[in-house]
Amino acid sequence: FEECRIYSTGVLVLGSGIAGLYTALKASEYFEVTVLTKKGIPESNTKHAQGGIAVALDQEDSPSLHYEDTLYAGAGLCESDSVRALVEDGPLRVEELIRMGAHFDRKNGKLAFTQEAAHSRRRVLHANGDATGEEIERTLIAQALGEERILVKEEQFLLDLLKNSKGEVIGALSLNELTHELEIYLAQAVVLATGGLGQLYCYTTNPEVATGDGIAAAYRAGAQLMDMEFVQFHPTALFIPGAPRFLISEAVRGEGAQLLNAQGERFMQDVPGKELAPRDVVARGIWREQAKGEVTLDFRPIGVAKVPRRFPMIYQTCLDYGINVLEERLPVAPAAHYMMGGVRTDERGRTSLPNLYANGECACNGVHGANRLASNSLLDGLVFGGRIVEDIVNTARAKGSSNPQPRDIYAEKDEKLPEAGQEQIPLKREELQELMWEYVGIIREEEGLKKAIKLIRSWDSAFIPEKEIPQLELKNLLTAGYCVARAALAREESRGGHYRSDYPEINTRDLKHSIQARGTGDVC
Ligand code: SIN
Repeated sequence: FEECRIYSTGVLVLGSGIAGLYTALKASEYFEVTVLTKKGIPESNTKHAQGGIAVALDQEDSPSLHYEDTLYAGAGLCESDSVRALVEDGPLRVEELIRMGAHFDRKNGKLAFTQEAAHSRRRVLHANGDATGEEIERTLIAQALGEERILVKEEQFLLDLLKNSKGEVIGALSLNELTHELEIYLAQAVVLATGGLGQLYCYTTNPEVATGDGIAAAYRAGAQLMDMEFVQFHPTALFIPGAPRFLISEAVRGEGAQLLNAQGERFMQDVPGKELAPRDVVARGIWREQAKGEVTLDFRPIGVAKVPRRFPMIYQTCLDYGINVLEERLPVAPAAHYMMGGVRTDERGRTSLPNLYANGECACNGVHGANRLASNSLLDGLVFGGRIVEDIVNTARAKGSSNPQPRDIYAEKDEKLPEAGQEQIPLKREELQELMWEYVGIIREEEGLKKAIKLIRSWDSAFIPEKEIPQLELKNLLTAGYCVARAALAREESRGGHYRSDYPEINTRDLKHSIQARGTGDVC
């Protein structure tokens, strides 16, 4: 590290979606904050969120109803303390977001709530119809850039977390993508908010940046990961050859759109909840029908006058791909959407490593259980961002704050970047994505999972990335894919987002999270 520039900050936040920026803003009330982000500041899953943010703010609603719905969708695996924090702190956090300048859609001056799957109430706030994430991200960016105690550095790729000899996390090693130089950031507390890993799959609603970098870095540093088998596949993404799997918000079905099979039948009609059954149920329903022919979504029951007004972005995007949803049905298919598992944290966002916190999609605090309730993720980023900062403040007060010294840096030898000229295997991201889709996707079974694990291990051991971002991302995806596949193999039941055709039932006797850490053998 002798040639690296070393920077010191109070709190280091990795990631610039809702989880990162909100945590940074709260932390800046007490500390100097540095935010490192891989690409431009708006580049995150948050920006692409459509449906909205779930919060019990309507008169007809209550945190306890939101709590019940979240537990129901989570299929027995939610952590009740975390869920309680989510639903009870949620209204205050969203009101704060509104005070910061986020404009949610209103009807007659009052906040307008939409319906999404498995919600017993209309509970989902939205902005500009179907561009909720963009509005939230716009608000948070404006706040963060206007806050002099926050320094945002773009084009910074997280290479590794740094620990001292006591095993405490003291910062991060980053690759400055503009200068191609390594930089060290030291901090009293490090918050991972690096988002999910949808890019593990060939069909995903996630942007290119979602490559599981924070999850992989935490795993390399020895942090525990939890529930990595639970990947949520969104039932309805655009399904046109050559087009990306653009998300078709669940709110479209919430407002009345119907799913039809190749025979024009409403195949979800007899399932409890119909088109608004939990996501995993609808995704598997579509998957099965697709084996027989095309599945389409009919927008017309919403009302042709309402669609362009309520879903302007979806309407226009479909037109751009040559489909007018006011006149014809839209082909849809499931796509990888959200990671319920991640870096294990408690209800204050603390990971198993001292001074390391995780928030948002890269974290697993148990609020989502085995299947996330729609639109709970943006709320998760706000609520646990607030809790993390409270914990950092309390910890700093308890021990008297000081920045760690550079000489205490310790990193494991085998995590160094390769020497120039070291032999490469020509692995492509697409090979891994296709493997994951086929064997670690919507429907899994033992033989396929074992095959995937074996291949990923052999690819991983032969693949030594150079100091190039696509290669570093692929290395992280290999780590993440391995963790997802081995957790999926270990869970011999079907629950929420994890479906095993060889164990199609839920195991009611033996309810547990899956936990894994590097170098500790089996998933337990
Ligand atoms: C959607 O709009 O359907 C996505 C919302 C979410 O994933 O929570």
